[in-house]
Amino acid sequence: MTSVTVQAPAKINLSLGVGPPRDDGYHSLATVYHAVSMFDRVQASPAPAGEFSVEVTACAGDAGDVDEAADPVVDSRSPSLDGVPTGADNLALRAARLLADYTGVTAGAHLRLGKSIPVAGGLAGGSTDAAAALVACNVLWGTDLPAEDLQHLAARLGSDVPFCLVGGTATGSGRGEEVSPALMQGSYHWVLAVADQGLSTPAVYAEVDRLRDGSDVPEPKIPDALMNALRSGDAKALGPALTNDLEPAAVLLRPELGELLRLGEACGALGAMVSGSGPTCAFLANDEAHALDICLGLASAGSCQGVHRVTGPVPGARVVDA
Ligand code: C5P
Repeated sequence: MTSVTVQAPAKINLSLGVGPPRDDGYHSLATVYHAVSMFDRVQASPAPAGEFSVEVTACAGDAGDVDEAADPVVDSRSPSLDGVPTGADNLALRAARLLADYTGVTAGAHLRLGKSIPVAGGLAGGSTDAAAALVACNVLWGTDLPAEDLQHLAARLGSDVPFCLVGGTATGSGRGEEVSPALMQGSYHWVLAVADQGLSTPAVYAEVDRLRDGSDVPEPKIPDALMNALRSGDAKALGPALTNDLEPAAVLLRPELGELLRLGEACGALGAMVSGSGPTCAFLANDEAHALDICLGLASAGSCQGVHRVTGPVPGARVVDA
């Protein structure tokens, strides 16, 4: 086999309940993940035994089923690659090595990452590249590990990586790595407003702890209103049910995010929230035309670096060329 290409999606969290810090430093989570139509691609090619390398390139926005070429307001510039490690720290490369160690395969791999998902944007860009690398190398090397084993390896790489393998809409518990599909129907239209510079996830969690300042924090729960809205496929009910415990911390670290959220609401978004640890903000629209209106409103204010229309849910990491 010459090479295998895998496409893997960005995620947003429809609810992100954050509990107290655990003994291992992570926080217990109760979250609903939702994969959206913005994709990175990872191509894995053969390399001599024990040799692993990665090359990272920026791709213009890949918003799946939205025709960006015909869309005057949707940002299709390439994301900045600042902060993507190209050495052994790269999460996709670590994923390939982990799979090789676990299976005892002696082959190496060269990975080419085509990034559309903003770096450190709260959209799981690094995690989804790791999920894609697991799937790509599993096919390239013919190791053929079952999904359950890939999930286990994914959890060792990062809290969001198991979800990026499955995609769709799923609940997450533990530190986020225990995923199970959520009962839901419908497809939702979102606008993602991407900031110029990323936010560090550990810094946002640390800010949450600082804000809580030793107060008694209950174990987190997924709101019933959110699950009911998803079950009935009701975007109007979903909007006000969106929650994110990381949002106050992200807004404190980046006050302009508060203004951006208010602007999106003023543009008629059904719901507005910081995505994960931010700084990307996600706005829920009624339909494609409404999403375009929200894009126009946000873009004309110039308060964010780029806006993208996406839909969700979409599948997780999957082979698109082999
Ligand atoms: O799991 P992952 O490596 O993606 O997490 C990145 C960082 O986010 C962790 O080092 C930790 O600071 C924070 N985190 C957390 N609790 C979680 C998930 C992430 O504190 N459940």
